[in-house]
Amino acid sequence: MLLLIILVLLTFNFSLSTPLAEGNSVSSNLTAMGKPGCQTECGNLTVKYPFGIGKGCFLDESFEVICNSTADPPTLSIGSGTDIQIYSISDSEMRIANSIAFKCYNESGVSESFSGYYDLTYSPFSFSQKNKLTVVGCDDLAWFKESENVSVDYSSGCLGFCSEESDVRNGYCSGIGCCQTEIPKGIQYYSAEITSVRNHRGVLGFNRCGFAFLSEEDTFQFGGVNDLSGENFISRTETVIPIVLDWTVRDERSCSQVTACKGNSSCNDTDVGGYRCSCKKGYDGNPYLDPGCQDIDECADNINFPCYGVCTNTPGSYNCTCFPGHIGDGTTPYGCRPQAKDSKFPVVIFAPDLTVHSKD
Ligand SMILES: *[C@@H]1O[C@H](CO)[C@@H](O)[C@H](O)[C@H]1NC(C)=O
Ligand SMILES: *[C@@H]1O[C@H](CO)[C@@H](O)[C@H](O)[C@H]1NC(C)=O
Ligand SMILES: *[C@@H]1O[C@H](CO)[C@@H](O)[C@H](O)[C@H]1NC(C)=O
Ligand SMILES: *[C@@H]1O[C@H](CO)[C@@H](O)[C@H](O)[C@H]1NC(C)=O
Ligand SMILES: *[C@@H]1O[C@H](CO)[C@@H](O)[C@H](O)[C@H]1NC(C)=O
Ligand SMILES: *[C@@H]1O[C@H](CO)[C@@H](O)[C@H](O)[C@H]1NC(C)=O
Ligand SMILES: *[C@@H]1O[C@H](CO)[C@@H](O)[C@H](O)[C@H]1NC(C)=O
Ligand SMILES: *[C@@H]1O[C@H](CO)[C@@H](O)[C@H](O)[C@H]1NC(C)=O
Repeated sequence: MLLLIILVLLTFNFSLSTPLAEGNSVSSNLTAMGKPGCQTECGNLTVKYPFGIGKGCFLDESFEVICNSTADPPTLSIGSGTDIQIYSISDSEMRIANSIAFKCYNESGVSESFSGYYDLTYSPFSFSQKNKLTVVGCDDLAWFKESENVSVDYSSGCLGFCSEESDVRNGYCSGIGCCQTEIPKGIQYYSAEITSVRNHRGVLGFNRCGFAFLSEEDTFQFGGVNDLSGENFISRTETVIPIVLDWTVRDERSCSQVTACKGNSSCNDTDVGGYRCSCKKGYDGNPYLDPGCQDIDECADNINFPCYGVCTNTPGSYNCTCFPGHIGDGTTPYGCRPQAKDSKFPVVIFAPDLTVHSKD
């Protein structure tokens, strides 16, 4: 039933995007983002192949993303019915919405709790090691479950502890009221388990709940007593602390097969399985789509590739030489000097400022 609903949605999206694509076919950089005729934008997010919106637009079902354009602003989510919201997609990573696990206590024990899970097995995604498991609480131990299988041991966890409000320091997630620990490499399942040593007895006055979540390194700033109070902690945190996923192509092909990556790109087998294609240095475009990556015209981009002399684009690079009669480094301001041997320009030799003006 769920599959049916998704298929209906896709056909609808696809028929919508077809007339749009005809108007865009002249723009070469749009076709490089996705397959011809495919929608490549959702709100302000760009969806680049192998990801795609709608049937025929993605590499395989695992790269399907769904754009809800009736939401304001439009939202993008991972396909296959997971409903996980996507914040951004880059050439190797994806940032997705967070889900915070918690357990709250009152005088008689646990009063409220929640623990979601992410099951990404058989998908292109794995949890990036940029994420840390973060625990906020004064009497809380949380650990990372990397499988729903109870017989698989947990691999990492930490303990947030404090006995008095005055011990807690804002900004320091180092064990007092807040702790962080690394996560294992390449895992595809995540769920946080939280438990308490003393059911928060002794700290209930300022800390009723323990929280556990994944957070990209340095994105979470511990708010001290304010965070421990639990007041709006979840709504404040969930929207601004994304989870980082790594993605790789996990089809039957690998880097040993030339067909995987297109022209002027290189293939990298990743250490968590699968491969990724990337444009060679000096090239840009979509390495997964024919004809592959295109040479960057560095001379047309003076901000990233400055040249204060004569700029010549070359395949994969550019040549920046000084104006005739000058020598030196054309890529830096004042990098060129008149050729000292040449007696035709005796005055200019001792007036570097003048040589710069004489260029234009
Ligand atoms: C596509 O080309 C237009 C005009 O040349 C440019 O403004 C825009 O930034 C390009 N978009 C991308 C994603 O490269
Ligand atoms: C995209 O839109 C969202 C919500 O409207 C906004 O928070 C975000 O900063 C925007 N991102 C970019 C790159 O403009
Ligand atoms: C799209 O978003 C709107 C507003 O959030 C929501 O009401 C609607 O159910 C969503 N549609 C789908 C197909 O998820
Ligand atoms: C603690 O919470 C539970 C569950 O919400 C509730 O049934 C119980 O009455 C509460 N105990 C006290 C002392 O508030
Ligand atoms: C759980 O893990 C054990 C040991 O790794 C394995 O033998 C078993 O097949 C797993 N069960 C499931 C349902 O994955
Ligand atoms: C790679 O780029 C060069 C120069 O831009 C071009 O001549 C060549 O055909 C490209 N190779 C492939 C396989 O597309
Ligand atoms: C390929 O992988 C190696 C090792 O993981 C890395 O050092 C290198 O930068 C990667 N190359 C590209 C083009 O991503
Ligand atoms: C760059 O230009 C110089 C001077 O014209 C020339 O000698 C050199 O071969 C050029 N290098 C490349 C890579 O084209």
